[in-house]
Amino acid sequence: MSKCPFSGAMSTPLTASNGAPVANDNQSRTAGARGPVTFDNHYLFEKLAHFNRERIPERVVHARGSAAYGTFTLTKSLSEFTIADFLQQEGQQTNIFLRFSTVGGGQDSSDYARDPRGFAVKFYTQQGNWDMVGNNTPVFFLRDGIKFPDFIHSQKKNPRTNLPDPQAVYEFWANNPQSLHQSTILMSDRGIPLSYRHVNGYSSHTLSFWNKAGERYWVKWHFKTNQGIKTLTNEQAAKMPAFGAQQDLIESIDNGDFPSWTVKVQLMSEEEAKTYAINPFDLTKVWPHSDFPLMEIGQLELNKNVDNYFAETEQAAFAPSNLVPGIGASPDRMLQARLLAYQDAQRYRVGANYNQVPVNAPRCPVHNYQRDGAFAGINPALAGAGANFYPNNRANQGEPAEVVAAAEPPMPLEQDAWLDIYDTRDEDNFSQAGALFRLMSEDQKNQLANNIADGLSQASEDVQQAMYAKYEQADKEYAERVKQAVADRTR
Ligand code: NDP
Ligand code: HEM
Repeated sequence: MSKCPFSGAMSTPLTASNGAPVANDNQSRTAGARGPVTFDNHYLFEKLAHFNRERIPERVVHARGSAAYGTFTLTKSLSEFTIADFLQQEGQQTNIFLRFSTVGGGQDSSDYARDPRGFAVKFYTQQGNWDMVGNNTPVFFLRDGIKFPDFIHSQKKNPRTNLPDPQAVYEFWANNPQSLHQSTILMSDRGIPLSYRHVNGYSSHTLSFWNKAGERYWVKWHFKTNQGIKTLTNEQAAKMPAFGAQQDLIESIDNGDFPSWTVKVQLMSEEEAKTYAINPFDLTKVWPHSDFPLMEIGQLELNKNVDNYFAETEQAAFAPSNLVPGIGASPDRMLQARLLAYQDAQRYRVGANYNQVPVNAPRCPVHNYQRDGAFAGINPALAGAGANFYPNNRANQGEPAEVVAAAEPPMPLEQDAWLDIYDTRDEDNFSQAGALFRLMSEDQKNQLANNIADGLSQASEDVQQAMYAKYEQADKEYAERVKQAVADRTR
C-alpha cells in the first residue's frame, strides 16, 4: 500500500506486468505538448498489445454460459456400487462448479433461445476432478459422434447469410430420424426454460460405477430442480432481456436464495444390460422409470458466484474424459467421441496447460511427468527439478508412481464381436418420442405442434412430407397436429 499523491488515501501501487510502478496511466509520453507519441512508450505498447490478446476462441458449441460454485452433499452412500471416494459417506460434501449454457448461439447471444441447456458439473473430489457434462434433456439428437459436426452445422447459421436456417434444421432431422425423440423435447414447452434455476440436468449418457469387488453397474444421473420446471412460450421469450437467465442466476446467489437440485441415479447391472430390450447405450433413448426407478442420493446447491467471468467461467474446461476411480465410461459410441473431443478443444481454446488454470485445477495433489508447454509452472509440482521420465528409480525420493488399485475392471465385449461398420439408423427411433407425446397435456401438445410448425412451415415441401412421416411413426395424432399447424401458417 502507498499514499495516493492526490487524495492522500492509501492505495495499491499500479504496476506494469513486470511489477514496476507506473507513474502515469492517463497520458502517453509525447515529443512536446502537441507532438507525436515516441517509440519509448513501452507501457502504452504493453497496454495495447495485451488488449489485442484479451479474447480466446469461444467454445465451438455452448459458447454462451453462466456458472457458479457450490456443494454436493451425499445423502445415501453408494459404497455398494462404487469406490468413488466422494460417494462413500452419508453427509460427505464435495465442492463443485456448475456451468449452464445454450448450445447454438455465440458468446453474447440470447439466454432465451429454443435450444437444449448445457448442465456441466465439475466435482472437485479428493481423487481428481469428475466432470458430469450433461444437458437439461435425458437424450440427444444422435447416437453416433460421426454425425455431430453435420448436426451442429445444420442447426447453427446459414454459411452464406449467417442467419438462422429452418430449412437446414429440418432437412437434417428429416434425414436423421434418430433425432426425433430429442427434437420432440426441444419443441415441447420445455424448449425454452424460464431460467437456469428451473432446469433439470441429466448425464444423458450411460456411465458406469465399479465397486471394490470389481463389479460394474451402468448408471444414468438425474439432477431434478428443487425450484420446479418453469418455461416460456416463444412469445414470452421474445419479450425477455437477452441476458436475463445470467442475471437471474447471479442475483439469486448474491441474495442468498441458493438454487438446488435433488440428485438421483438409475442403476442397471451388467447382466440386466445383456438382455434389456432397449440398447442401454443408445443416447437417443431413456431407461423408463418403471423399469429402472430413480434412487435419490444427494443434494447439489449453488452458493457462490464467480469473481471474474473470463478467468473462471470462460476458461472452465469440462470434459467427459475427466473420470475418477469408481466412475467410468460405457460402450455408448457418442460418449467415446466425446472422450476425445473436449480436451482437444480445450488445448486449442485455452492452451496445453488448461488444467493448471485455477478453476480447472484439481483440489487434490497432481503429480505426473507431463512437462513444459505454454504457462508451465502454474503448478510447481509439474515444473520442479525432479525426474521428467517414468519409470525411474526415484520412488523413495517422492517421485510419482502408478496406483494399481485405481485400475478399472476389464469390460466384457459382445461375444465374437467383429470390427465393422454397423448401420444403426433403423433402430427404433420413434417409440419413446411417441410415449412423450402421449404423456403431454392438451396445452403441451398444442405448444409442441405450433413450435414445430414455426420452423417446418419455412422448409421445403419434400422436407415437410418427410417429417410428417416421422411424426406419424411416433403417433398418428402427433403428425395430424403438426400438419394442421403448418397448414394454418401457409394458408
Ligand atoms: P414417466 O411417466 O415415468 O416419466 C416421464 C418423464 O417425462 C418425467 O420425468 C417428466 O419430468 C418428463 N417430462 C414431462 N414432460 C416433458 C417434456 N416436455 N420434455 C421432457 N420431459 C418431460 O415415463 P418413462 O420413464 O416411461 O418415460 C416416458 C417418456 O418421458 C420418455 O420417452 C421420455 O421422452 C420422457 N422422459 C423420461 C425420462 C426417463 O429418464 N425415463 C426423463 C425425462 C423425460 P418431470 O418429472 O420433471 O415432470
Ligand atoms: C461443449 C463436442 C455431444 C454437452 C462441447 C465442446 C465441444 C463439444 C468441442 C466445447 C468444449 C470446450 O471448448 O470447452 C461434442 C461432441 C459431441 C457432443 C463431439 C458428440 C459426439 C454432447 C452431448 C452433451 C453435450 C451428448 C450432453 C449430454 C456439452 C456441454 C458443453 C459442451 C454441456 C459445455 C460445457 C461447458 O459448460 O463448458 N461439446 N459434444 N455435448 N457439450 Fe458437447
